[in-house]
Amino acid sequence: MRKKVSIVGAGNVGATAAHWIAAKELADVVLIDVVEGVPQGKALDLLQAMPIEKQDCSIVGTNDYADTANSDIVVITAGIPRKPGMSRDDLLNTNFNIMSDVVGKVVANSPNCILIIVSNPLDAMAQAAFKKSGFPRERVIGMAGVLDSARFRTFIAEELKVSVENVTAFVLGGHGDTMVPLSRYSTMAGIPITELIAPERLKELETRTANGGAEIVKHLKTGSAYYAPSAAAVEMVEAILKDKKKILPCAAYLQGEYGISGLYVGVPCKLGSKGLEQIIEIKLTAEEQAALQKSADSVKELCTVIGVA
Ligand code: LAC
Repeated sequence: MRKKVSIVGAGNVGATAAHWIAAKELADVVLIDVVEGVPQGKALDLLQAMPIEKQDCSIVGTNDYADTANSDIVVITAGIPRKPGMSRDDLLNTNFNIMSDVVGKVVANSPNCILIIVSNPLDAMAQAAFKKSGFPRERVIGMAGVLDSARFRTFIAEELKVSVENVTAFVLGGHGDTMVPLSRYSTMAGIPITELIAPERLKELETRTANGGAEIVKHLKTGSAYYAPSAAAVEMVEAILKDKKKILPCAAYLQGEYGISGLYVGVPCKLGSKGLEQIIEIKLTAEEQAALQKSADSVKELCTVIGVA
């Protein structure tokens, strides 16, 4: 039997995530949204691409959570996106209300699923979903680091004029202005990029990474990024469905790791069939640890506002 992945939110991120899942034939997909017609129309359109793409997936669009029952994974993208000039934090209260409603309905229908949270402000929304679901931390994981590190990898590969496949990059901390791109642990074919790119230039690439989402919002004006965010969520879906034990930077509920407790923050995670299977702790310099702590503090502030700290 094929695996089942439900995606909440049939906007650009949700629908494009469905596209990547179907294109990779990872699972049957249910696309759900409160708006009538949109998930049905997009799902049917995508389904009709399958003969051309030579993939066998069932793709259903719906407004009824009963159709999501017994999903293996539920990806939550529901919420309003940013407009130019807005920070992810400006979305806090609206998206918290949406998240609370959605998680209640998802959990009632798929009590054993793994939740992947994509809505912004990411870390606070992951924390809200964790608290509302009552799931163990292994089954509530936030998508941010895969996206942020993909942006960093893109810029590094462009800079060094090499294949993106040769570049690994690490980004720690919250998915916000305080994120911590870790150049020291980023490599080209195993060579630390700190040996290949001058410090001032590296700083520029780190800053561009931290502002990566805002740069796209500024271009689009009416929405935020969706190709890379959805591809990032689907890399996590794939790692879990295929039990790959893949190390990916994700937002996870920390219980003392990196000196932080009771909070979702981006850290290197091992993803497999059980969801979050391990948090990898790496030694940080005092400066990096301070940057991570600052990022955690800003996540905590948001969580306090919505009462999930
Ligand atoms: C971004 C939004 C989706 O980083 O958070 O593009």
